[in-house]
Amino acid sequence: MRIGTPLSSSAFKVMLLGSGELGKEVVIELQRLGVETIAVDRYADAPAQQVAHRAHVINMTDAKALRALVEKERPHLVVPEIEAIATEELLRIEADKLAIVIPTARAAHITMNRERIRRLAAEELKLPTSPYAFCSSLEELQAAAAQIGFPCFVKPVMSSSGKGQSKLKSANDIAKAWDKALTAGRVKEARVIIEGEIDFDFEITQLTVRAADGTHFCEPIGHVQVDGDYVESWQPQAMSVTAREKARDMAGKVTAALGGHGIFGVELFVTGDDVWFSEVSPRPHDTGLVTLVSQYQSEFALHARAILGLPVSTELKAPGASAVIYGGMDAKAIAFEGIGEALHDPEVELRLFGKPESYVKRRMGVALARGANTDEARTRAKHAAHRVRPVKGS
Ligand SMILES: Nc1ncnc2c1ncn2[C@@H]1O[C@H](COP(=O)(O)OP(=O)(O)O)[C@@H](O)[C@H]1O
Ligand SMILES: [Mg+2]
Repeated sequence: MRIGTPLSSSAFKVMLLGSGELGKEVVIELQRLGVETIAVDRYADAPAQQVAHRAHVINMTDAKALRALVEKERPHLVVPEIEAIATEELLRIEADKLAIVIPTARAAHITMNRERIRRLAAEELKLPTSPYAFCSSLEELQAAAAQIGFPCFVKPVMSSSGKGQSKLKSANDIAKAWDKALTAGRVKEARVIIEGEIDFDFEITQLTVRAADGTHFCEPIGHVQVDGDYVESWQPQAMSVTAREKARDMAGKVTAALGGHGIFGVELFVTGDDVWFSEVSPRPHDTGLVTLVSQYQSEFALHARAILGLPVSTELKAPGASAVIYGGMDAKAIAFEGIGEALHDPEVELRLFGKPESYVKRRMGVALARGANTDEARTRAKHAAHRVRPVKGS
């Protein structure tokens, strides 16, 4: 591996597709290694665009626009940071050897659709999952719900971050869930997955790095989800030796099937010694923000190193936690107060993402903390997050 000089003919160039807070940390890690970075998003001044060498605003689901930009910039690596990308074009870009897609174009293509990844995990790899069915009409959904039972979840096959998802308690909820899935799906295709509920003790993200020298596993990350968005995470999540081994085995299998180099966030449900596969993202995971303080190499450093073919270490530094800071209002160019109070504790760090527009439930920042154990770290992180107050910008 050679890294040249940014902004010169020897530059090693990486293009991020999606430039949110996770991409921002990846760009910072790449910048530290002298990589030339190009940050793409569908709106201007996205977090990663503020730290990259160059920024472009395009509709990444537009195959022609995506192709034209890759042909113009000629990056060595194309690094998806979100799901909503024209992944068929990524397959062509890779096939035409225009750029290497991280981890692979096929991985991005499979994981952006809940049907493709569920069939791969459950039917090909035989990983345990919730009972499920796919439906393309209200009638099919009613029939499937009768089979699977309640409570159950309905999710558009093409959506993320809880969009269009419903938890159904009884048959009375089916029609409403169908309508919600239709209006929120990423594409106009009317197709949903219905999943039986797994009554888990806790859920984890098993961060898994595929690097040049093989596959490495991070300590499990525990997290709390509200309405499809994570509000709190911590590392390490305590679990039985058997469950821990199963989690690593399942994560190893699904990431091997997706291939390539980089970090993956494998979402698993755990009850006692039992583990179920839920979903996987072939890129840094939001619950993994905690690794900025809990690991020597954060998930962002691991991703940067792995995609460049460099050595990685997943060793834990100290128990840690993250707590999300929400915008709390719909407004542009907001400001934050209470930052000094939050940072009074030397074991606390903040990331304020710099998003140009705030919504009530938009993630605008995160408080991170280390502790003697995860309980202490969680208390510190939540305390710090509460000290930070979003206010009107002017
Ligand atoms: N089958 C299920 N059983 C129990 N909980 C579930 C199930 N499906 C989803 N959930 C809960 O909803 C959250 C979001 O679902 P997920 O499939 O991960 O959607 P997203 O792609 O939006 O993250 C999960 O992290 C979990 O807390
Ligand atoms: Mg999820």
